[in-house]
Amino acid sequence: MSMGILTVACFAAMLGAILATSDLWNAAKKGKTDVVIALINSGADVEASNENGWITIMVATEAGHLDTVEALILANANISAATNNVGSYGKGWTALHIAAHKKQSDIAQLLLRTGADKLVKDKKGKIPADVARKKGYSQLAKIIDDFIRHHFTQYH
Ligand SMILES: *[C@@H]1O[C@H](CO)[C@@H](O)[C@H](O)[C@H]1NC(C)=O
Repeated sequence: MSMGILTVACFAAMLGAILATSDLWNAAKKGKTDVVIALINSGADVEASNENGWITIMVATEAGHLDTVEALILANANISAATNNVGSYGKGWTALHIAAHKKQSDIAQLLLRTGADKLVKDKKGKIPADVARKKGYSQLAKIIDDFIRHHFTQYH
């Protein structure tokens, strides 16, 4: 009898976490930072990905929500995570590639300051600065380039 109650309670908790995770995805996309934080605190999975390997920090980056990206970083979102080979665009992209593609300069700089890999290549061998350049965002490409140079003079 108590086993049954435990099983139900356990299932309810699992279901709650799954629902929280899909809510987290939607909240990240809409930039509802307070909701994002509340959902993470109630067990939503920050690293949950869709079939294309996109995780919430990528979704928030694509939509241009700086505060949300910051909250996800504070919640230990993996800034090194990359999308997979599936999908119409952005194969092998990190959040920094996505920020470059979407001209999200503030988010790109936040990711760079947080330690995002500037030299990581996507499936076509492009680093984030290449992605910005290809879109004609030369100023953003320069910001990333300058960060690379600064990083090298600092540590090499
Ligand atoms: C973050 O993502 C990278 C790239 O996919 C992976 O190699 C690494 O293990 C991940 N780190 C964590 C803590 O999951």
